[in-house]
Amino acid sequence: NTMASHHRGRIPSHLAPAVALLFAFIIALPASGDPLGQLCGNSGNFTANSTYQANIRRLSATLPKNASSSPTLFATDTFGTLPDIVYALALCRGDTSAANCSQCVATAFQDAQQRCPYNQDATIFYDPCALRFSNQNFLSSTNGDGTLLLLMNTQNVSAPVKVFNAAVGVLLNATANYAAANSSRRFGTGEEGFETVDKGTPKIYGLAQCTPDMAPADCQTCLQGIIKRMPEFFSGKQGGRVLGLRCNYRYEQYRFFNGPSLLQLPAPSVGLAPAPAPANVKPPPVGGGEKHREQNG
Ligand SMILES: *[C@@H]1O[C@H](CO)[C@@H](O)[C@H](O)[C@H]1NC(C)=O
Ligand SMILES: *[C@@H]1O[C@H](CO)[C@@H](O)[C@H](O)[C@H]1NC(C)=O
Ligand SMILES: *[C@@H]1O[C@H](CO)[C@@H](O)[C@H](O)[C@H]1NC(C)=O
Ligand SMILES: *[C@@H]1O[C@H](CO)[C@@H](O)[C@H](O)[C@H]1NC(C)=O
Ligand SMILES: *[C@@H]1O[C@H](CO)[C@@H](O)[C@H](O)[C@H]1NC(C)=O
Ligand SMILES: *[C@@H]1O[C@H](CO)[C@@H](O)[C@H](O)[C@H]1NC(C)=O
Ligand SMILES: *[C@@H]1O[C@H](CO)[C@@H](O)[C@H](O)[C@H]1NC(C)=O
Repeated sequence: NTMASHHRGRIPSHLAPAVALLFAFIIALPASGDPLGQLCGNSGNFTANSTYQANIRRLSATLPKNASSSPTLFATDTFGTLPDIVYALALCRGDTSAANCSQCVATAFQDAQQRCPYNQDATIFYDPCALRFSNQNFLSSTNGDGTLLLLMNTQNVSAPVKVFNAAVGVLLNATANYAAANSSRRFGTGEEGFETVDKGTPKIYGLAQCTPDMAPADCQTCLQGIIKRMPEFFSGKQGGRVLGLRCNYRYEQYRFFNGPSLLQLPAPSVGLAPAPAPANVKPPPVGGGEKHREQNG
């Protein structure tokens, strides 16, 4: 079972000097529904029964619904006044149902307060959603805060590592381009043939997403920044995820998302450089998010 041996952690400092050092090795991925990880901030604590806590509670009552009822499965909100103002952002994965989205964000408010007790600033990641609340106005910019959560599928590929890494790069690039430019949800999924290289694992699957309030160019920049480091993080590994608040991606050798792949790429020709551009690209959906949502359940 490939799920049984993932490892997660923040980027080690020698790889990303700007990012805090914290590595957590885990034997098994969290149970379904549990957080993949959380980042507790350092902008101070609130106290029990304070106005700040009440303001978090107010947001926790509305944000799950606001995100899940939005066609982009995304919502930001603020509540309260200085010094007790709370800024919050919730994003669900683009293939998540409204019910799962709402449930995930509601759980995220509870778990975040449990895992970062009395912390004014908490970010928490799940498979179907991510949430941050903070006393810092992180909504004023769509640049990430630099913190990333990495999850690695520790299984090695049987294919030649360079060929595999290059194929993943092509897939993630195309999927990122789709997410940035061709979808109102800033969400893309794709599959790429790999049978010319490894008949046993005939496809690679990818997913990329940004928060839908990002301009295409900013989304592209955010995704390229983490995709170009794929060989550094996950070289030769069967799967990997980089989760940031503003953008994220994942790839695996099995289908891990709901619904059809929005992009289909041909297999690389073994021995040749992988094709520079995707072929067989499905036409972009008209109208964006709503349509996907129906399609993808
Ligand atoms: C905030 O609360 C945590 C957990 O209760 C505690 O460990 C930490 O020392 C507190 N920090 C400050 C600045 O009071
Ligand atoms: C917070 O409120 C609850 C319920 O009203 C009460 O039981 C608890 O003692 C209060 N805690 C503090 C620190 O005031
Ligand atoms: C969230 O939903 C509530 C009602 O449930 C509404 O009052 C509020 O304006 C919404 N917030 C945003 C940012 O859309
Ligand atoms: C909703 O959540 C259930 C239970 O975790 C999961 O099996 C299902 O695939 C999810 N569906 C969507 C569309 O998000
Ligand atoms: C993957 O390969 C590395 C070295 O190439 C090796 O150290 C590691 O044990 C392998 N992992 C698995 C799960 O086979
Ligand atoms: C992905 O796109 C970037 C920027 O457009 C490019 O520099 C890089 O070579 C591409 N990577 C692959 C594997 O195609
Ligand atoms: C995005 O749409 C444009 C124009 O509609 C098209 O040229 C391009 O190939 C599409 N890109 C992807 C990755 O789907």
